[in-house]
Amino acid sequence: MSKPTTITSDQQTDTKYSNELVFWLNGKRVDIINPDPNIMLTDYLHEVGLTGTKVGCAQGGCGACTVMISYRRPGIGESVHKAVNACLRPLCALDGMMVTTTEGIGRVHDELDPTQYSIAKYNGTQCGFCTPGFVMNTHAYLQNNPEATEQEIEDIYGGNLCRCTGYRPILNGMRTLACDYNASKDCSQKCIIDPSFEIKCKESITEINLDQLPTSDVPARDLHFVGPGKEWFRPSSLEGVYSLKKE
Ligand code: FES
Ligand code: FES
Repeated sequence: MSKPTTITSDQQTDTKYSNELVFWLNGKRVDIINPDPNIMLTDYLHEVGLTGTKVGCAQGGCGACTVMISYRRPGIGESVHKAVNACLRPLCALDGMMVTTTEGIGRVHDELDPTQYSIAKYNGTQCGFCTPGFVMNTHAYLQNNPEATEQEIEDIYGGNLCRCTGYRPILNGMRTLACDYNASKDCSQKCIIDPSFEIKCKESITEINLDQLPTSDVPARDLHFVGPGKEWFRPSSLEGVYSLKKE
């Protein structure tokens, strides 16, 4: 598969539609005029230097590219947080959403998110290629289910593969975030952390602020993007879909 080399395309779009994509990345607004519909979210993240999100298979099979997307449910306003495979997510399909990558929830030189801290503390990472995927999958799940049990957390990893650490240390780390975790019964081996460098951990899962996102009563915009060999339409109504089909 040949990879597109630029994020935007200079091809003309239809004036009935907006050609501006607006989304938020780790809390910062991103505006892109006429994004190329061939670009996947992983391409974009690496283009802007967010290399924490890895690409293992680029086919939706390994989970290394997992990030969290958040939005307000249309008409209701309830916050939705979902773990998605960024290698399958077109950049054009992010309008009005917040994307959170592993860089957006914690940093070693600042404070780690509990999901990042736990996987490291329990030796759940070796080459580290799968680690951001496990972290973001767990993080998104805990956003929606803060009272998750050990079993419920264990059950979410069907889409995350690890080729070198083995799953036991990963599960040992992640189960410490469960509401029924019993520290007194835990004999699993912990990592001996370098005493010359203190690594801090947040007290709870990083809160994702969706205040900047469009509120649920703001109607979605009709979007049209044109790139080499591909066009992207997002009609905002059923009438718009019918009219496109007719055209
Ligand atoms: Fe393997 Fe995305 S890179 S699922
Ligand atoms: Fe190497 Fe999981 S730590 S693939």
